[in-house]
Formats: sequence, C-alpha cells, structure tokens
Amino acid sequence: MCGIVAYTGSRPALPVLLSGLKRLEYRGYDSAGIAVETPDAIAIRKAKGKVSELVNLLGENNSLESSTCGIAHTRWATHGPPTTENAHPHAGGKNNIALVHNGIIENHRALRAKLTAAGYTFLSETDTEVLAHLVDSLYQGNLVEAVTTALKEVEGTFGIAAMAHAEPGTLVVARRGSPIVLGLGEKETIVASDASAIIKHTRQAIYLDDNDIAIIKGSEVDIRTLDAGSVSRQTSEIDWSSDAAEKGGYEHYMLKEIFEQPEAICNTLRGRLDSNRGNALLSGLNLSPRELADLHRVLIVGCGTSMNAGLVGEYAIEDFAGVLAEVEQAAEFRYRNPIVNPSDLVVAISQSGETADTLAAVREAIDKGALVSGLVNTVGSTIARETGRGVYLHAGPEISVASTKAFTSQVSVLLMMALKFARSRRMSRESGCQMIREIEAIPGLVQQVLDQNDAIAKVAERYLDQTSTFFIGRGYMYPVALEGALKLKEISYIHAEGYHAAELKHGPIALLEETVPVIALCNDGPGKDKTLGNVAECQARDSRVLGIVTEGDTEAIATVDDHIAVPACPLYTAVVPSTVALQLLSYHIARLKGCAIDQPRNLAKSVTVE
Ligand code: G6P
Repeated sequence: MCGIVAYTGSRPALPVLLSGLKRLEYRGYDSAGIAVETPDAIAIRKAKGKVSELVNLLGENNSLESSTCGIAHTRWATHGPPTTENAHPHAGGKNNIALVHNGIIENHRALRAKLTAAGYTFLSETDTEVLAHLVDSLYQGNLVEAVTTALKEVEGTFGIAAMAHAEPGTLVVARRGSPIVLGLGEKETIVASDASAIIKHTRQAIYLDDNDIAIIKGSEVDIRTLDAGSVSRQTSEIDWSSDAAEKGGYEHYMLKEIFEQPEAICNTLRGRLDSNRGNALLSGLNLSPRELADLHRVLIVGCGTSMNAGLVGEYAIEDFAGVLAEVEQAAEFRYRNPIVNPSDLVVAISQSGETADTLAAVREAIDKGALVSGLVNTVGSTIARETGRGVYLHAGPEISVASTKAFTSQVSVLLMMALKFARSRRMSRESGCQMIREIEAIPGLVQQVLDQNDAIAKVAERYLDQTSTFFIGRGYMYPVALEGALKLKEISYIHAEGYHAAELKHGPIALLEETVPVIALCNDGPGKDKTLGNVAECQARDSRVLGIVTEGDTEAIATVDDHIAVPACPLYTAVVPSTVALQLLSYHIARLKGCAIDQPRNLAKSVTVE
C-alpha cells in the first residue's frame, strides 16, 4: 500500500527520500513522486511505475540536489488510475503547499465541489489533491494551523506529510488510521509510514497516535493533538537490524523469509513455554486465572493469510482446551452485528498490525465490551496499541508481499494459546509437557522440509502449465489447503482454490480434467484414508495429484502421482512443515514462470483501506 517518506535536516533531502521510497517498495505501489524545496518554489517530480522511473526522470545532476527538506510517496491507486497526474505529492493552490497522503478522504466529493466553486482547478482525480487545495484555502502563513483546520473538516483516514513554500525547512505530519513514524536523528528527522524507511538513519522513533499532528524542523519536533495543545509521545528503539530488511543473498525476499522460518519460530517460542509447569506463559495476554477459567468463547478475526492461521487456532483451541472457538473474516465482523459477550476473547491476527478491516473489527469488539487481544508482528502498530494486550510474533520484518514466516509464527502462537487455555481447564501437567515437546520440535520439522528445496523445485517443473489448481485437505490440513492455494494464486497468478477434501465433490469436481491438477494434503493421521479416497476420485477425472505425505508412508506415496514428504509428527504440528512445503512449491512455480515474486501485481503488503 502507499508509502510516505519525508525529510528535514542539514543533509541533501533527495538521497534520503529516494532510498526511503526504495525501502518501501515491498509494500506494493504503482507510481512514485517527490517534492523538495527550492528557493523559487516547491519542485514536484512524479512518475508512473517503479521508483527507478522517478530516479531516471530526476537524472544525475539535477537542480534539486541541494534541497534539505522534502516529502515523497509511493502510491497504490484508490481514487483514479495509476497515472503521473494522480501520483503524489499534490500541490495546493499555485504550488504554495505540497502534500502526500495515505488513506482515504471519504467526503472528498463535497470538498471538491466546494473548492471548485471557490476557484480551485484540479489536475488529478485523487482525494489527496482535494486535501492539498483545502489546506491552501485555509493557509494564512501558518501551515500547522491550516492543516489542523483542514483535517477537522475531513472524514476518513489519513497519514500525511505537508510542506509550505513560505515555511522553509518545516514539515507538518499527522495521522488518523494510517501510521506515521518519526525517526529522530542528530540534526534531522526522517518521517515515514513504516520504520523500514528510517532504520538506515536512526533507531530512535516516535509513533504518532491517531489525531496527532507534529511540526518538525530539523531535529525539533513538536507533537500536538488535532483538538488540543502539545503532548508528549514516548520514544522507542527500533530493534530490527538493517540486515534483516535486506535480501541476505537470496534471490527474493520471499525465499529468504521462507528459509528464516526455523529461526523465526524459535524467536516466537522463546521464553514462552514452561516445561516444569507444562504451560505457556504469554503474559502479554494479561488474562487472570479467573478470566481464563471463565472464557466462554474465542473469536478470531483476520484477513488473508492471517485468517488462515486463525482457522488452525480455532481447531487447536477447541481440540485441546474444549473452549468454543470461531474464526471470522475481519471484513465481515462489523457489518453483520455479531453477538459478542464480555466473557468472549476476540483475537485479532495481523502481521502488519495496520490492516483496516482487522482494525475495524478490533474497534467493534472493543465497543461490544469483549476482551480484545492482538496477535501482531509489527511492534508499535495500531492494532498492537489499540488492543493493549496480546502477543507479538517476533518473526522479524516480513518484506515479501506474500506472507510466509508470519503465518508459521502466528500458528505457533495460536498453538501456545491452545495449550494455555487447555491447562486452565482440562489438560494435565503431563499432557502439557508432551504438547510443549511437540511444539518445540516444529523448527526442526521445518528445517527438514527446507532441506528438500532442490527436490521441491524439481516437482514444481511438472506444475507450471496449468491455469487452475485445487488444494484439498481435511481436519488440520484444511487450513493448510486454503493457505497453499492463496500462496499459489498470489505469486504465480495461477487460479487456485483451497477446498475441504470432501467438499470437492459438491461442485468443483465438475472442473477436473487432465489440465487441472490437485494438490492433496494426505498426511498420516485421522482422515488420511478418506483423503486418499478423494485423491482416487480426482485421478479418475484425469487430474494429476501431487500429495503432501508423511515420510515413509508407502501407501500414500503409491496412491499419488508426485509427492513431497514431511516428517512424521502429530497433525496439529504437521500444519507448519506442510505449509512450508507448499510455500516452496508456489515459490518455485512462480520463479520458473518469471513472476514478480516479492511484489505481485495488484497486491499490497498492508491493506490500510476497507
Ligand atoms: C494483504 C497481504 C496478505 C496478508 C493480508 C493481511 O492482503 O497481501 O499477505 O495476509 O493483507 O495482512 P495482515 O498484515 O493483517 O496480516
């Protein structure tokens, strides 16, 4: 989704802005632009396509190099197609103001009509240009006052950075719904929508809260709220290494992140399992033994991959703890007026912690009086802050748009939650200790799948030419089928659907033929025989079947046409290595097809609009 970078300080702004934009490329975007101060005017340069197009446009010895203040943006189209005109920054008035914006101004039509009547001419179809002109119309020599008044008229969400020609060196930034982080340097401040754009320069950061507005000049930062005066916000230390945000020698971020999973899962589990008491700690959940015992229901909300992880959580929590659990698309949660009781725990799962639909579900659950917790990767993100209680994944930054290590860390946390809820009810200490041993084995199981990378790449060669694929599984392997299909369609553009193995007969089987392969999760355990029966049904319709099977399971290997073996383990932990096998399969199919793996078309890493 859109990215913001802004700079004020003593160095030339342009290199900081452009390297920041490059760092934000992973979020997904379709155009980019910068605005910097020059003595005569604010200079704006924009280009459709990649940041490299913008760099080409600027040329090597451009006249903007000496400027020490500027704003920059990568846009992902919402209002109006991805064109140079619609790219940010947008100018207000006659270039008196320049502004970049993430989010959506919902009352942009009414404001546009009002500003047009007042004589403003619009060059783009965007809601952002409306905001730029609105600020200009209110500007009387004080940018922060004009922006404050403008934002009070605005309905919707925003993260913005603005500058005025008459106030050199000054930036005004604000947020409601879209993140803004201030990176505090020696004689400078770097503003961004995402900490990865600032870690090269500083690790000291302030995350703005909703309705905060900041005036920044060099290293001077004054934060206020839109309704009141100055406030102080805590400075936190960004603890990622710069290296963690680089590709580390892998061809793609996605492959790097797939291979990081044993380590990421170890980080997720670290210090959270108590082998003496056979229990999980998860102190961040902040649930008293009484609240745990009274827990009536666990409602899990999330989008995309996070929702698929939630489904594993639903199964495990009911299975081990006997607590009612349900997973729901976060996008639907607040539109269908769900029943939520005070003794329900709502768990919002989100890698980014910024997904608009998940955030809306969190707010709905808070309004309905539930206990609400976040299961989030990005420290300091909005969902983490608004839920106030929860569990950080500690999976490290996930750059590739298609989520991999976040999923396996999410599943790891959900299994620990199942253990904790189970121990507060019916599970014995011995069984808890056994479950801990099984959970702690997961990183090693994943490593055994990663060791088969070359063999999986070979299998992928046989699955390049299809236009459609079905993934099937039952029990714990059903969410894996959903996640496998999501991964394949996201990065290879092959149409893929995850289905319950039994449900395939109720419609999709009509589509099976030689050119439509089926990927079947046939791991050894309850339900395997039935799934092998479903495999035979597919083969009878000429579909080639690739099975994910348990190592040494000769019966399954003999049934399927191709196979990838995962180590023997209980089904609830087999979820993780089986998913990793499908991540590698999708990766290699997409690589062999020459797809843009880390930034698939039309997708965004963090979807901050509903
Ligand atoms: C987007 C991403 C997916 C991700 C989903 C939820 O659609 O492309 O990879 O699973 O958002 O994101 P979240 O950050 O809330 O986990």
